[in-house]
Amino acid sequence: MIKVNLGGCSSFVKDADYKAYVEKALVALDTVENENGEGNDFLGWKHLPSTTEESLIADCEAIRDSWKSKGVDLVVVIGIGGSYLGAKCAIEALSHTFANSLKGAKAAPQVVFAGHNLSEEYICELMDLMKERNCAAVVISKSGTTTEPAVAFRVIKQYLETTYGKAEAAERIVAVTDAKRGALKSLSTQEGYKTFVIEDNVGGRFSVLTPVGILPIVLAGFDMRAMLKGALEMEEACAKRCECNPAVQYAAMRNLLYDNGKAIEILVSFSPKLQYLGEWWKQLYGESEGKDGKGIFPASVSFTTDLHSMGQYIQDGVRMLMETVVNVENSNRSMVIEADEQNLDGLNFLAGKHVEECNAMAQLGTKLAHIDGGVPQIGVSIERIDEFNLGGLFYFFEKACGISGYMLGVNPFNQPGVEAYKKNMFALLGKPGYEAQAEALKERLK
Ligand code: PA5
Repeated sequence: MIKVNLGGCSSFVKDADYKAYVEKALVALDTVENENGEGNDFLGWKHLPSTTEESLIADCEAIRDSWKSKGVDLVVVIGIGGSYLGAKCAIEALSHTFANSLKGAKAAPQVVFAGHNLSEEYICELMDLMKERNCAAVVISKSGTTTEPAVAFRVIKQYLETTYGKAEAAERIVAVTDAKRGALKSLSTQEGYKTFVIEDNVGGRFSVLTPVGILPIVLAGFDMRAMLKGALEMEEACAKRCECNPAVQYAAMRNLLYDNGKAIEILVSFSPKLQYLGEWWKQLYGESEGKDGKGIFPASVSFTTDLHSMGQYIQDGVRMLMETVVNVENSNRSMVIEADEQNLDGLNFLAGKHVEECNAMAQLGTKLAHIDGGVPQIGVSIERIDEFNLGGLFYFFEKACGISGYMLGVNPFNQPGVEAYKKNMFALLGKPGYEAQAEALKERLK
């Protein structure tokens, strides 16, 4: 169960103000629940935990087993933004940090990502890896027209067809895309690829609990049923019309702090495994709220690492920051610091303590220091890093994002600003239909 702790904000806000913002959050919750706000045709993510069919997971497992029988040891997942970050976050969080360097047989293929950048060096180095391995690919694009994954997929498709033959390549490619529209859909139909559908009513950044996230997470060997169970627990908890609803608490406090000048929210974790939770969360909140000249700017850090780089600014820079700390209550591994007879490093005061106890004290010490420095802190606690708790976190942050966006007065489910760079890029690359814009841009670049 995800718990929100607002104690780190108490010296920054008045209780009566928080109560008023809880009332506003409950009104925004009603808008999400009654589906009568702007963007209400994109609320399909709300009931995914309670409605996802067992057959979807079984289908994903069938692909996993079929590729295993072919000896596949590398799966390239191609996608960007919402078609990439959820799976990347889950797989990074759940995998052994050094999984790919450890010796011994692997239970699941290595999952790597492509199509989330346009770097020539990245794709060439990926091809170097693919040439050494037994490969398959999953290409994910809701629109089926996004340039970055389309470019990567063209290269990877050609490699798979050259290496394994066209028929076998088709067995090693799965597409996740719209049911009817887009180049990826028509290409998949033409080539006979197995295809999973992203429903129209789920936006990219809310799609981690659809096949967009489910297929890569299952292929990487993780327990999607447990993740959906954790999400279901939060689907129930975050639907309650009460102050006890954790999504209401989080949305209320972050909006209150924003209205008090805290325009930047930093998502903090003290486990490097959660680094990509920050990346996923930044897209979720940045794309949902950053519009109409409004919105909290989402940033993320990984402590204690970044205390040695960003710590100075957070402690002492412009006072427009708030922190949301994802607190992991229990470590999945255990390591005790031993006493040393000579004590040359002077660390015997730590003898007998777990490394995680040092981490916990660093976390407490940072909380107090940052509060003293004028940075309020919201706590979001999970019991441990596993599928169940990650599923809960995904759902919690999504629901709170919908509530928070409506509190802010924006449509949290569109992303009109994402198109601007694409139009310029197409014009500069000479895409047919963009000739006039290309001329205008070339003038500006002179
Ligand atoms: O949240 C969003 O809508 C975007 O980040 C998209 O997920 C991203 O642009 C990828 O789009 P698509 O899945 O259509 O390729």
